[in-house]
Amino acid sequence: MKHLLSMKNLQINEIETLLERALEFQQGAVSTLKNNFSIANLFFEPSTRTKMSFEMAERKLGLHVLPFDASTSSTIKGETLSDTVKTLEAIGVDAVVIRHKQDGYYNELLSGINLAIINGGDGSGQHPTQSLLDLYTIKEEFGKFKNLHITMVGDISHSRVAKSNAEALTKLGAHVTFLCPPQWQGDFASTSSWDEILPTTDVVMLLRVQHERHDSEMSFSKEQYHEEFGLTRERYEQLKQSAIIMHPAPFNRDVEIASELVESEKSRIFRQMHNGVYIRMAVLETVLKERK
Ligand code: NCD
Repeated sequence: MKHLLSMKNLQINEIETLLERALEFQQGAVSTLKNNFSIANLFFEPSTRTKMSFEMAERKLGLHVLPFDASTSSTIKGETLSDTVKTLEAIGVDAVVIRHKQDGYYNELLSGINLAIINGGDGSGQHPTQSLLDLYTIKEEFGKFKNLHITMVGDISHSRVAKSNAEALTKLGAHVTFLCPPQWQGDFASTSSWDEILPTTDVVMLLRVQHERHDSEMSFSKEQYHEEFGLTRERYEQLKQSAIIMHPAPFNRDVEIASELVESEKSRIFRQMHNGVYIRMAVLETVLKERK
């Protein structure tokens, strides 16, 4: 694995190997990497979890982390992303984690570079490390993916998390359904209702409304959204005993999820964040091992 760009490019056995390595890290394994690799995290969109989690993983692996701040970088002077990446390669950076608002930004970076690219989220495109940490969390809970019922709720068409997870979970044999306003359905054919999904679903995956990717204002208020698509206490009570709730976060309390449910018994939201560090260690180690 030279880069990690999308869940589309990952084979089932590659996913399984990454999940196994993450588990080893969680159980205390130490990286076999030579500790002389340098890395930079290029975040051109806001981030708390993903950026901090990558940085934690990088430090746990003993990598040299070069600080990068998009707001004071030469991109402000008009430098292209490609020239920024080439600059980092020229000064000896081995890998970059990039988050950028443009879908598929990485396509124009791939020719003529030798450093590794890990996609930390491209517009409404893909978010492969979030998907891997979600898969890890689901496997930790159920021990499998086959025949699990997963429901994604919310702004599906603008969510890179939904795209990466739909791709990966379907590949792994889970049944994925979507519950969303019709205007956010995108290419995902089947939509469902709360009544239909509550008795059968194993995982409710809530998604934030991606206001920053919308051309116009949302046509309903926060209260209306919560009423129709939010996880309320009443809906929570109808879930299967074994069902879990996930959300990539940041979550908006009392919009996607009732505030009191964020840390409820079925919620794995903070567990997802915890697991993300091990997944990112596994991804970074795998990519850096391929470098000569
Ligand atoms: C997500 C993202 O940036 O795509 N957040 C994350 O990485 N944990 C989800 C979101 O912003 O809604």
